[in-house]
Amino acid sequence: MSDHQPSQKELPEAPSTAPTPAGISRRGFLKGAGITAAGTALLEGVQGFSREAVASTPKGVKEFGPEPFPVTLHINGKEHALQIEPRTTLADALRIQLNMTGTKVSCDRGVCSSCTVLLDRMPVNSCMTLAIDAVGHHVTTIEGISTDEQMHPLQAAFVRHDAMQCGFCTPGMVMSCVSLLEKNPHPTEADVRYAVSGNLCRCGTYPKVFAATLDAASQLARKA
Ligand code: FES
Ligand code: FES
Repeated sequence: MSDHQPSQKELPEAPSTAPTPAGISRRGFLKGAGITAAGTALLEGVQGFSREAVASTPKGVKEFGPEPFPVTLHINGKEHALQIEPRTTLADALRIQLNMTGTKVSCDRGVCSSCTVLLDRMPVNSCMTLAIDAVGHHVTTIEGISTDEQMHPLQAAFVRHDAMQCGFCTPGMVMSCVSLLEKNPHPTEADVRYAVSGNLCRCGTYPKVFAATLDAASQLARKA
C-alpha cells in the first residue's frame, strides 16, 4: 500500500455546476432530486396524486411549507384538524399538537421503536413517519386500544406478568404485539420474539413481554 497522500492540488476539481454527460448540472440534479423526494411525498399525501401522475406533470407541482398548512388526520376513529409543517413527524403531531403522550419518543431516529403506532393496522415508527404521510390513513395509538374502564387484554397481560420496568418502551412493545395478535391469533414464542425484534428495552423485560403476549393470545382464543 502506498503512503502517498494526494495533496489538495492533485485531487480532481469537482465542479458543482459542470454539466453531466446527460447535460444536467450537478446543482440542477440535486435541486431536482430534492423536489422529487419531498414534492412527490407531499403531493401524494395531500392531494392524492399518484407517483406516476406527479412524475408526468412536473409543472403541476405545488409546494407546501415551510409555513404550517391544514391537514386532517384520522386517529383512533376520530378526525383531527391540524396545522402542520411538512417536516412535522407523526410522533410530534401526536404528542405535541394532540397531547397524546402515550406514544413515547426515545431515540427519535428509527432505532428503538418506542414510538410505534399502527398505520392502517401496520406497525410503524412514528418518529420516522411524516404526519403528512398519514393523511388518508387510519392511525391507531396506545390510547386507541383501550377505554377508561377497560384495558386491552394485552395491556392486562403486561400488568399480570409485570412486563415493564421504566415503561418507556412499553407502549411501543404493546402496539407491536397488538399488531401481531391481529394478524396471528395463535403465535408461538418465536413469532412474538420476531414481532418485537425492533423494539429495544434497556430494562430487559423481553421474557415477560413474550409470556404476557402468549398469555393474552390464549385468553383471546378462549373468548373467541
Ligand atoms: S423514538 Fe422512534 S424509533 Fe426510537
Ligand atoms: S421497561 Fe424500561 S426500556 Fe423497557
